[in-house]
Amino acid sequence: MNAKIIGTGFYLPERILTNADLEKMVDTSDEWITRRVGIKERHIARDDEYASDMACIAASKAIKNSGLLPSDIDLVLCSTISAEMITPTVSCIVQKKLELVNSAAMDVNSACTGFVSSLIVAQQFIKSGTYKNVLIIGTDTLSKYTDYTDRSSCILFGDGAGAAVLTASEKGGVIGFEMGSDGSGGKHISIPNFKYTEEDIERRGGEKKRTFWMDGSEVFKFAVRIMAESSKRIVENAGFSIDEVDMIIPHQANVRIVDGAAKRLGIPKEKVFTNVERTGNMSSASVAVALAECVEKGLIKEGDKVVLVGFGGGLTWGSVLIEM
Ligand code: COA
Repeated sequence: MNAKIIGTGFYLPERILTNADLEKMVDTSDEWITRRVGIKERHIARDDEYASDMACIAASKAIKNSGLLPSDIDLVLCSTISAEMITPTVSCIVQKKLELVNSAAMDVNSACTGFVSSLIVAQQFIKSGTYKNVLIIGTDTLSKYTDYTDRSSCILFGDGAGAAVLTASEKGGVIGFEMGSDGSGGKHISIPNFKYTEEDIERRGGEKKRTFWMDGSEVFKFAVRIMAESSKRIVENAGFSIDEVDMIIPHQANVRIVDGAAKRLGIPKEKVFTNVERTGNMSSASVAVALAECVEKGLIKEGDKVVLVGFGGGLTWGSVLIEM
């Protein structure tokens, strides 16, 4: 038995932050952002809108589209790095609000890789026969951690949530995966909570802000390399060639990263889904929303071979080959 996707859903907040808006906030330009990052606009949660609110909307759409009842869900895994509460977790809040009365719940944190990690964890529970139906969610409100005076990072992020319902299937589903981490690269992306490294304090000019910080060029190099290598590895290990893949759904951080990885893989742009120009980088929600949009737009269909690939803070990465 493998984990097969039977329903997806997503939610993007109403408020939109355009490059023109950012031009009024920091020393930047639409031209620079478009050329270097490929983002035009992002959705930003209301001040009173949190990761769990968005997760509930995306998850309830995914359950409805799956044809299952909330009581059929055995486990909910929610990936987030911007939960409004440390505990109860977002997954427990969703479990309560959506009345998933028979479901266990836990959050997964592997930064932007989280939705892919959740899919891999779900596959283990389904493969072992422990659970039949698993709901996975990626939800993030990185706007709440963004320093809107730092032009190198505030242009990158948006908020959103995506979800998928997985069920045990004899046919198709997850047919290959890999996950990895390199803690020595953790210094390249950080959001402090209680503790700050000397480097953190220095680069923040002594200020102890709980905001996102990143060494963009280090992350850029890592991202292009790992997305291409990891995708190729899982496809070949499953006995296929990269040409047999119908769609790659990568983490949406930067159009140039996606293009660079596609070039390394030698696959045409049409086979690589991007929505980052409209959404920005939504961390855990990026792959989740992209998957749900692909399904909604009919870009992937029953039987297609799809690669989901993520990378992010930690550093972490993960990739999954799934037959729809
Ligand atoms: N507008 C205008 N200029 C900007 C700018 C902005 N928003 N942000 C940075 N710059 C400037 C820099 O100050 C620098 O100026 P200088 O040469 O005078 O010092 C110049 O642009 C180049 O900066 P650099 O950081 O080298 O640009 P870059 O091409 O590496 O692009 C990122 C920066 C962040 C867009 C890019 O590194 C990136 O996308 N990295 C990966 C991000 C990512 O994937 N993060 C998610 C992890 S999950």
